[in-house]
Amino acid sequence: MIVSLTVRRAGERPDVQLACLPRSHGGPPSGLARFLAPPAALPLGPTVDRQCGRRRWGQRTERPLARTGGTPMTNVTVLGLGNLGQALAATLLTAGHSVTVWNRSPEKAAKLVEQGAVRAGSAAEAVAAAELVVVALLDYPTVHGVLEPLAEELAGRTVANLTSGTPEQARAFAAWAERSGVRYLDGAVMAVPQTVGTPGAFLFYSGSPEAYREHHELLALLGEPRHLGEDPGLALLQDVALLSGMYGMFAGHFQAVALGWSAGLSAVEVTAQLVRWLTALLPALPHFAAEMDSRDYTTETSNIAINATGLGNILRATERQGVPAGLLAPLQELFLRQLDAGHAAASLSRAVEELRVGE
Ligand SMILES: NC(=O)c1ccc[n+]([C@@H]2O[C@H](COP(=O)([O-])OP(=O)(O)OC[C@H]3O[C@@H](n4cnc5c(N)ncnc54)[C@H](OP(=O)(O)O)[C@@H]3O)[C@@H](O)[C@H]2O)c1
Repeated sequence: MIVSLTVRRAGERPDVQLACLPRSHGGPPSGLARFLAPPAALPLGPTVDRQCGRRRWGQRTERPLARTGGTPMTNVTVLGLGNLGQALAATLLTAGHSVTVWNRSPEKAAKLVEQGAVRAGSAAEAVAAAELVVVALLDYPTVHGVLEPLAEELAGRTVANLTSGTPEQARAFAAWAERSGVRYLDGAVMAVPQTVGTPGAFLFYSGSPEAYREHHELLALLGEPRHLGEDPGLALLQDVALLSGMYGMFAGHFQAVALGWSAGLSAVEVTAQLVRWLTALLPALPHFAAEMDSRDYTTETSNIAINATGLGNILRATERQGVPAGLLAPLQELFLRQLDAGHAAASLSRAVEELRVGE
């Protein structure tokens, strides 16, 4: 890791700023990196710093032109400048990379161009301008629509597609990429645009291990990366799993707030206590997970019987308050089926066996 601070006298532009900055957690740029980002209007070309593989500001170098059109070659291209794509491109620029951008509505590139991005005149020019193409479009049909006509330009390059979808959609697009000679990484962003590039952000990748190894350092700037395997559907499978947990939590939150309202409590009051309670309970999840994987559901404490009784009370109380209980009722179904099967004394976590597939 290298840091070179430029001496800057009043009224002068800095003449050298190194973009290879410390990233102690191996992830996104530090606050210092952001501070050192080149001034927006500085008309200077980047050169690649051999030691850290990223550009260095300060010399008026000409970038070679891409095969298609007049767009100069850059380290990375970002296709799609919605909320996510803009955050991805801005993070890469801030970290010192040279970035080509393209968006269907070109005006969304304006701010990034001020920050130093190169705006390509077409998706074909954008793709031709970098070896790595990061994609953040609305959905997979859009990804097919934008990328498939560019098979020729994309051949031999790497696509890291961070668009949300299903594992099946990821596999189908990966199959097209393979047929077209494109190295493919599918990705899932566990962050919102405001947190991209911060220590809280993490991303899952699946697909070509070679492409991941080659671009790992750049991808790590967006958030802590994790490659899950060669099956291109794995990243989105993990995405769907985590989001299922998130929506389950929202369901519980909505139910709690509705109950509170029915008794004149505000959402804020109920939520403050709920956050406290859920925080105390979170450590139970890894414990349950170990039981689930080992299928040893022996417990001295929270068994199926006591939880079926407890949840039965909750559902009755909810209905008595006039609040719909439909969000939680399916969970009671799992408990009751386990009771019927003779597992009253097993751990609460055994209810997950009702959802197990493939046996
Ligand atoms: N935002 C998040 O917090 C977040 C987090 C994780 C994952 N994601 C995923 O990342 C993807 C992008 O999200 P976002 O928040 O950036 O969405 P967004 O703000 O709605 O942007 C959608 C992007 O897709 C483009 N697009 C839509 N239809 C198109 C078409 N027919 N042809 C070409 N381009 C088209 C839009 O171009 P125009 O500007 O021209 O409309 C825009 O660049 C989604 O799959 C989303 O689920 C988002």
